[in-house]
Parts: sequence; structure tokens; C-alpha cells
Amino acid sequence: MTRFDTIITGGRISTASDTFQCDIGIREGRIAALGHDLGIADETIDATGKWVLPGGIDSHVHISQPSGEGVVMADDFESATRSAALGGNTMVLPFCLQESGVPLRESLKDYHAKAEGSCHTDVSFHLIISDPTEQVLGQDLPALVHEGYTSFKVFMTYEGLALSDLELLKVMAVARETRALVMVHAENYDVIRYLTDQLEQAGRTAPFFHATSRPVIAEREATYRAISLAELSEVPLMVVHVSNREAMEEIRRARQKGLRIFGETCPQYLTLTEGDLEGLNMEGAKYVCSPPPRDHESQQACWEGLQQGVFDVFSSDHCPFRYDDPQGKLTPKGRTSFRWVPNGIPGVGARLPILFSEGVVKGRIDINRFVALTATNHARTYGLYPKKGTIAVGADADIAIWDPGAKNRLTHAMLNDGADYTPYEGMELTGWPVLTMLRGQTIMRDGVLTGIRAGAHVARRISDHA
Ligand code: URP
Ligand code: ZN
Ligand code: ZN
Ligand code: ZN
Repeated sequence: MTRFDTIITGGRISTASDTFQCDIGIREGRIAALGHDLGIADETIDATGKWVLPGGIDSHVHISQPSGEGVVMADDFESATRSAALGGNTMVLPFCLQESGVPLRESLKDYHAKAEGSCHTDVSFHLIISDPTEQVLGQDLPALVHEGYTSFKVFMTYEGLALSDLELLKVMAVARETRALVMVHAENYDVIRYLTDQLEQAGRTAPFFHATSRPVIAEREATYRAISLAELSEVPLMVVHVSNREAMEEIRRARQKGLRIFGETCPQYLTLTEGDLEGLNMEGAKYVCSPPPRDHESQQACWEGLQQGVFDVFSSDHCPFRYDDPQGKLTPKGRTSFRWVPNGIPGVGARLPILFSEGVVKGRIDINRFVALTATNHARTYGLYPKKGTIAVGADADIAIWDPGAKNRLTHAMLNDGADYTPYEGMELTGWPVLTMLRGQTIMRDGVLTGIRAGAHVARRISDHA
């Protein structure tokens, strides 16, 4: 009789390409067999009536990143991965920010120290390049790619982060040499600076004007420019957090030309609008992120991008700040001018339930596309496939079991991250993850964490797109 640690029986399994009914035999953290009457196991999990899916991979989250002006992110690695596990995820990819004057390796060591022993899910770091010195370009990046840090994020806006076109080209040249994948935050910095000054001079400083200061034109122009620089450099490019039709169409056009340009969108661009920033008493600050949520037509465009394959990945861009501060020292989101409101909103726990309910349950995407957008394509894009992102013999047993009929009114308490609100409060959702398993160990059952913190750092291969 074949022996397994765990067998999951009776569920409907979906991958990015197939749906089938069978049992899953798990041994030593990996999927060892798929089939029927597999043998005996220490534990049997009955998944009858449930979907059995690859655990979610969220390839765009910010955790414990310094945010300027002494503002501290609301999540550390424990609380962010706790919320991720509650929301059906088994892996997140946060960023290591290169800080000015600090050697990149030292920053990376700090993030590792913060993550070590704290994580409920697996983690792997992207590198944010804020200062492409000769040391960084010539020595650090090539060595770090070799060690499994195979993706860089670059910014075209934000003080202290924005790179010039020349600097972008230099980073892309290293990506071409090392076959790393470049992720780009595409917004025109000068447009934003100009409009921010104008709005402030006119006394228009409420959170709502954050959206006015970062119009579609600024995003579309930077998206086109980033694509052009990637074309010149002959490198693949991931345009992250796309918010609207015009930027989406730039990506579609590039792909139609045969360029390896990829796109990401996020829950905020499907469910929020700039109208949400209009709240009184600075409450609109709870929705301040960049690019800003737009309008209903933009939401429709983002759905089309997900349906038609213009977008490959659906991530949270989880970037949590508290609205209130219990110590009263700092109310990060509640300052005077939108200029000083930290950019970013929480979403790592809400991402999958929102796409499941709004996408699969409402018939906008099928379950296979859901798996592709939330797990498989993240694994392929960032060099984790087929160890991660699918249900197949030999893959890590990273699994989420979903109750497709569960009805919930979303509250911040269900997500249990370190922020003090969710921008998605009150959404009526159908479908919820009832069990999350990381490398064969159950880390969440029925909305409760089991207390196992077995999350580890995963070194990555070169992207399938490179
Ligand atoms: O507003 C956002 N998105 N903050 C997070 C940082 C980034 O640009 O991804
Ligand atoms: Zn069976
Ligand atoms: Zn960004
Ligand atoms: Zn981000």
C-alpha cells in the first residue's frame, strides 16, 4: 500500500489549463500522486464540493519598506503573510528597496533578517533599483541575479526613486545581459510634479486631488516610453499596476508587434473609482494609491485586459498604511495635503476573494483563467514554475481549497492585516478559501491560522519570458 502524509479527496481540481476530479497524494511537502484510490495517509482532507486550486502567488506586495518622512508601513512579514494565508495565498513577492548610500546587499540582508522565521507563506524578493551606480550595475545586480533575485523594479516617478530615461536604459542593459525581468512603475514624474504644484497653489489639497494630479495621460505616456526603451534594449518588460484603457492598449499594441511586454492589474482598478477619494475628513486618504483608481470605463478596460490576455498577472500591490495611529504620534494617511499622504493601500488578503467573486462567480473569467492570473502566470513570469503555481506531480504542495458557495460581507477583521481598514469594506463576495496548505502543511483552516510559520525564502530561476 502506498503511503502519503496527506491525501486530499473528492475535490474539483483546476490548473491554468485543465479541470478534473481526482485525489491528491502529498509526501514530504510535494505532490506525489494524482489519481484515485491512492493508498493510505496520516491525514485525509475531504474536499467534496470544493475547488482545489494552486495556492495564490502575489507577486507585488510591499512589506516593511521605509516610506519616507518616518512613515512606517502597517505590516511586517508576520502580519502581511498572515493576511495572505487567510486569503488563500502560499507565496508573496515583496520588494527589497535600495536605499541611498546603503549597499544593495546590506539592504537585502536587512529584509531577510526581518522575514526569517516570521512568515506564514513563502517569500521571494524583487530588487528596487533607486540608484544605478556602477557598483550596482556592474557588480551587485549580476551577482544577485545569479543568486536567484531575478527581477528588478524601476520607478519613473516618486522623489528619490524616479530614474531618468538614461538610467532606465542602463538597468535594462543589465537585464539584457543577466536575463533578469524588469518591472516598471510607469507614470510621468514631471507631469505629476507640475500638476501637484498647481493644485496646491489653488488650495486643492484634499485627498481627491491626488487622482487629479496623476491623470491617465501621465500613465499612458510613461507606459509608451517604458515600452519603447524596452524595445530598444531588447528586453522583456512587466508594466505593473495598470489602471486604465489607454495604458492597457499600449501594452496590447506592443504585444501585437511581437514584443515581450507584459501587464499587471490589481483589485483597486476593478472595484474602486476616483470617487472613493472624495470622502470627508480626509477619509479619502484610505484610497490613495498610484496610479489612482479611475472610473467605471477604466474598470471595464481592466476586465478586458484580464479576459483577453493583455494582462498576465493580477496582484494586490499591497502597500499598507494605517489611517489612524493608536499612539497619536503619527496619522500617516491623515495629513493635510494629498502631497503628504503615503501612496498605497492594503489588499493582499482581499485579492483572491475579490477576483473569485467578481470574476469567476459573475462569469467574467473562468476558473482556469483565475488560476493563471493569480498563481501560474506569477510562477512563470518570476522563475518559480513548475515548483510553484500549479498542481502537478513533483510540484510543491502549495494548495488552496475554496468553498465556491460561501457568502461573505467583507470586513477588515476577516483579512487581519496590520492596517486599520480595508478599502473593500462591505463588499458582498461569493466564494472563500477554507484551507491553505504550504508545502504540505495546513497553515489556515476555516479562517483560522494553524500557527505554523514555515514560510521560507525561495531563490528563483530566470523568468520564462526572458
Ligand atoms: O501607491 C502605490 N502603488 N504604492 C506602492 C508603491 C508602488 O508604486 O507600487
Ligand atoms: Zn477518488
Ligand atoms: Zn509602483
Ligand atoms: Zn507597488
